[in-house]
Amino acid sequence: MLLAVRDLTVALPIGGRLVPIVESVSFTLGAREILGIVGESGSGKSVTSLAVMGLIDVPGARVSGSVRFRGRELVGLAPRAYRALRGREIAMIFQDPMTAFTPVYTVGRQIDEQIRAHQKISRTDARARTVRLLGDMGVPDPERVAGRHPHQLSGGLRQRAMIAMALSCNPALLIADEPTTALDVTVQAQILDLLRGLRREYGSSVLLITHDMGVVAETCDRTLVLYSGLVAERGPTGALFAQPGHPYTAALLDSIPPLHGPRPARLPSIPGSPPAPAERPAGCPFAPRCVYVQDSCAVRPPLVACGEQDVACVLPAEGRPLPPRFVSEMRA
Ligand SMILES: Nc1ncnc2c1ncn2[C@@H]1O[C@H](COP(=O)(O)OP(=O)(O)OP(=O)(O)O)[C@@H](O)[C@H]1O
Ligand SMILES: [Mg+2]
Repeated sequence: MLLAVRDLTVALPIGGRLVPIVESVSFTLGAREILGIVGESGSGKSVTSLAVMGLIDVPGARVSGSVRFRGRELVGLAPRAYRALRGREIAMIFQDPMTAFTPVYTVGRQIDEQIRAHQKISRTDARARTVRLLGDMGVPDPERVAGRHPHQLSGGLRQRAMIAMALSCNPALLIADEPTTALDVTVQAQILDLLRGLRREYGSSVLLITHDMGVVAETCDRTLVLYSGLVAERGPTGALFAQPGHPYTAALLDSIPPLHGPRPARLPSIPGSPPAPAERPAGCPFAPRCVYVQDSCAVRPPLVACGEQDVACVLPAEGRPLPPRFVSEMRA
């Protein structure tokens, strides 16, 4: 197992008390696997991935539980050791490539320096590797692009350059936080293709964060659904799409836009919104929006096995899977 996250809890100081933003999140990621983390805005996707990267830098924050990477415990790791790990074994790409590059230098120079920070090689060799990486990422005329400043490139090219930079040290784990949201549909599809190709050519595993179930369906082997900082459901993508165990997963599936045509930036179709972490109810956090709510939802449901998935809902726990028609009922 490349990555095993167990009972990860991240608490941040809000209004004078420590509020768990994500709570008891557990998942695993195997070699060459792509795991999707999905959920509405504010569900804790970014906080989860930042915790894995050791990048929660809010004063007074508390990270607990276990993050084992290649058998090594990362929770509590010294900042220096974490820094050495990032960029060498774990790399991250973001929604906005402008946050990864400084505007002052050419992208080639920035990738060269990233390579040279982790490897003792000459400038010439580093540049050759940069150009090859850019070419591998589908950048046309990579030599010329390497000589450009970030703002001189299109959004799609910048995204490819950022992935090239992230891959420059052959990381075993790539964390991609909404890497395609800012891009048009055609470029999105190309970048997702690229991510799928990575495991073949670079042997990387990918943690892919998205609010878009369509992206998950096309790209991820397994899926983790977060709701209000808690795991609602996790399992193989195929099974989870065929027979969602959690009403929230089913509602997300219902919100998938058509395969062709523009994708909305936010999930449109579930009425209401998730509770803020400080206002999360003691029971199931989805209960206020769920058509299946019942008295027993006042107690937080544990994750239970349901088909090939694990689901935090009393219905499967009581041996009652969701009726197939439920999605339209949710809408009614
Ligand atoms: N530094 C912080 N201080 C206080 N609260 C925070 C902080 N960072 C995040 N949060 C809160 O934590 C919750 C989870 O945030 P997170 O950014 O992980 O959500 P997300 O799932 O990535 O959402 P999005 O889809 O909008 O990127 C949100 O309610 C957010 O307001
Ligand atoms: Mg986020």
